[in-house]
Amino acid sequence: MNDKERLTRFLARMKQLGGLDEQEYARLNAELDRVAEREGYDARGRFRVAFYDARPYDIESFERCNAERYAIHYISAPLDRETARAARGCKAVCVFVNDLVETDIVRALAEQGVELIALRCAGFNNVDLEACATHGISVVRVPAYSPHAVAEHTVGLMLTLNRRLNHAYVRNRAGSFLLDGLTGFDMHGKTAGIVGTGKIGRCVIEILIGFGCRILAYDTHRDEEVAARPQVEYVEMDRLLRESDIVTLHVPLFPDTHHIIDRAAFDKMKDGVMFINTSRGGLVDTRALIDALKTEKIGLAGLDVYEEEAGIFFRDLSDRVLTDDVLARLLTFNNVMVTSHQGFLTREALQQIAQTTLDNVAEFESGRRAQQLTHCVRAQ
Ligand SMILES: NC(=O)c1ccc[n+]([C@@H]2O[C@H](COP(=O)([O-])OP(=O)(O)OC[C@H]3O[C@@H](n4cnc5c(N)ncnc54)[C@H](O)[C@@H]3O)[C@@H](O)[C@H]2O)c1
Repeated sequence: MNDKERLTRFLARMKQLGGLDEQEYARLNAELDRVAEREGYDARGRFRVAFYDARPYDIESFERCNAERYAIHYISAPLDRETARAARGCKAVCVFVNDLVETDIVRALAEQGVELIALRCAGFNNVDLEACATHGISVVRVPAYSPHAVAEHTVGLMLTLNRRLNHAYVRNRAGSFLLDGLTGFDMHGKTAGIVGTGKIGRCVIEILIGFGCRILAYDTHRDEEVAARPQVEYVEMDRLLRESDIVTLHVPLFPDTHHIIDRAAFDKMKDGVMFINTSRGGLVDTRALIDALKTEKIGLAGLDVYEEEAGIFFRDLSDRVLTDDVLARLLTFNNVMVTSHQGFLTREALQQIAQTTLDNVAEFESGRRAQQLTHCVRAQ
């Protein structure tokens, strides 16, 4: 029983005993609600969490895991200067990849009593960690959830692009059963360059080994288990770019990985290379990618992420004009496939994300703060 429930019972008992009149009882109860709200609890004594950018699949997975334990306020809008106010009465907010938790937003949250930012994703490039530390806000994330989800989506993009499945689907439905222009290549025997051999990169490597690919890997931390695979060779980035038929990115977005693939990197790649990014948009200089597509340096590109995706991905903009000229240009290429950051979107990953996020909130509610929290993220 929490404090709120205990006091509610106490008040009820006092009323029974005739120690309180109706008016006094109502006044004390209202005061109790105000105290509970200040402390981040709702009238039923449940810890309140403001959940931004909530989509139906989020609500479904979180509600299944939550089972009424927390009072989760689902807000369909992303976190921004306006919507930050919706966190009033909540000590915890839950955000996703495109909620920009910048300095002034952190301040606004802190002013309302927010003490925990729970990212329901692995990446934390969208959060100003220094500002959080300054304002005493703890930040937690979901460091690992089904890496298979993203790895399988990555390979899905490769196969779709290679075998022109997107074109075949549209063409057949329009009544054209021609094969002209649909020629792909055998994945077997091709060289795949994997940039980043962490959890997701490793899964991609295993799938591609299954296809019979030769793997060139690049990472600042060599994984000995990966290196022991006879099909894998760790190489410098330059060699990976020069020799790979497919280049796929699986590194986080940090200041030192921002535009890790720039104009110079595209220049080093094989002519007609397949390029895949399911990691973070900021890893790639998108204008340089567009130029590389125009010169046919890039033969096929699969993108699940885009530098300026915030405000576009996860939204229905079908009744509006697309004002982002760079994305609009990308979408005109018939050898580019864009998905809207859906690599994580499997039932298994959603369930794991919900479970870890609620465990993170439970740790905070139990009194742990900052580095006492298992999945804490801090400024370096
Ligand atoms: N599309 C999606 O839905 C989706 C979902 C989850 C994760 N992601 C992205 O995938 C990324 C990878 O996820 P993960 O779980 O494999 O992470 P991870 O931490 O397990 O692996 C990242 C790897 O990158 C390496 N690395 C870091 N900085 C590097 C650098 N400068 N140069 C070379 N290698 C470097 C690390 O050593 C590590 O091995 C995440 O950071 C996230 O951006 C995308």
